[in-house]
Amino acid sequence: MESPREQWSGKLGFILAASGSAVGLGNLWKFPYITWNNEGGAFVLVYLLCIVAIGAPVMMSEILVGRRSRRSPVEAFKTLGHPRWSFVGWLGVIAGVVILAFYAVIAGWSLRSFVQCVGWSVDGYEAPPEAAFGAFLADGGTQVGLGALFLGATALVVARGVSGGIERATRILMPVLFAIMIYLVVNVMFLDGFVEALVFLFRPNFSGLSGHAVLEALGHAFFTLSLGMGGMLTYGSYLRRQDSIPRIAMTVAALDTLIALVACVIMFGIIFSVPSLRATMESARSTGEGVSTVGMLFVTLPNLFYTKMPGGAVVGPLFYVLVAFAALSSTISLLEVVVASVSERLSMARGRATVVASAVVFGLSCGCALSLGANEWASSVRLFGGLERLNTLVTGGKTGFLSIFDHVAANWLLPLGGLALTIYAGWVMPAADTQDELDGVGDDGEVRRGYVVWRICARFVAPAAIGWIVVQVLLGGDFS
Ligand code: PFF
Repeated sequence: MESPREQWSGKLGFILAASGSAVGLGNLWKFPYITWNNEGGAFVLVYLLCIVAIGAPVMMSEILVGRRSRRSPVEAFKTLGHPRWSFVGWLGVIAGVVILAFYAVIAGWSLRSFVQCVGWSVDGYEAPPEAAFGAFLADGGTQVGLGALFLGATALVVARGVSGGIERATRILMPVLFAIMIYLVVNVMFLDGFVEALVFLFRPNFSGLSGHAVLEALGHAFFTLSLGMGGMLTYGSYLRRQDSIPRIAMTVAALDTLIALVACVIMFGIIFSVPSLRATMESARSTGEGVSTVGMLFVTLPNLFYTKMPGGAVVGPLFYVLVAFAALSSTISLLEVVVASVSERLSMARGRATVVASAVVFGLSCGCALSLGANEWASSVRLFGGLERLNTLVTGGKTGFLSIFDHVAANWLLPLGGLALTIYAGWVMPAADTQDELDGVGDDGEVRRGYVVWRICARFVAPAAIGWIVVQVLLGGDFS
């Protein structure tokens, strides 16, 4: 007989684990720099709209498919009577492996920054030479080692199961993360740039908004909410029957958005307090070059902590604990999708499935770790060799494993997975089932308005918007 499926201990367990999955490098690393490059205000507004009109309904769809089937992504659709839709689950597993492989490497950088900051706090700050970060990236052994450390920590948690591993870990990680965030933002409130950061974020200037920015906002909404790869589906499959999916999905989306905005306030508050830095960053934006993706988080900020911020010696190391914790609770969910699928599909014990999945991911993550300059081939490889047109279409012409993985996941796998999933929930699943899962009918027998709104979003708004992403990517757009 099958053993009963594991469950979260309650609503809070789910909310912490799911917001742990959602809050990650996407919030602390990606969102601030795309917001900066897209000139704040109006972009933030579009992003909020994407989260509400597309992100939240798609998240509800994923969770409801999970809870209805009580299976991992690769088995869920079969269990619900639609085996042909299992490709969505497989797409999710592939996305999980691909994202985890490069995400673990980037997450590893936070460990290096943490150690570096502790050193500065103890021995006094000494500005590193400009080339130091490049040299660190090109050090293959360190990159592989840090990525492996991150994967190892992730595997240890996932191997212990849903309530004993994931829930237990996120019950510690998330509250600590919130506390550190509050401490940081309170510190930033005393800086000159704090009010300006708020103005930058919340005063919309639509003249600076491009069509590409809308695409970027939409694409990021998927990544940041961990949608389109079965993560929320898997977590939803452990959700208790009595918990309200709309309410918890909305809470998770709100928490994720709040943290992304607070991360911007922290970073921009510090940056705006240094006029020369601000000028450099503004000129990078206006020349279209944009601020460097990693530069802001791993080079500029540590420097500012120690040169411009009172109490920086405490704030610096804490900040990188925050980044590492946020990343860890996300990698846990990525690995869980793969482990749940492998163990269910091959009837393998969780521990063994974790070892198998981590080994595969580790192999790929070595490719990513060595693609930042350590190995010539890994850094310059193209997915389709000399087939230029295919390279441009599928990978945006990117070279090197890390960039290719990032591009393929953000531009293809997540949007396609999300598109298929919402079409499934909106059009293929019987309305009675979705109503049942989303508390769609009130005690008076009337269909609730909230359910009707979800259904319109799931059937029309989200598929149209995601379909638009796919068309744009086919036409050469890129928002990774
Ligand atoms: N949501 C995570 C972030 O914003 O960093 C990234 C992510 C995690 C994407 C888990 C997808 C996923 F399944």
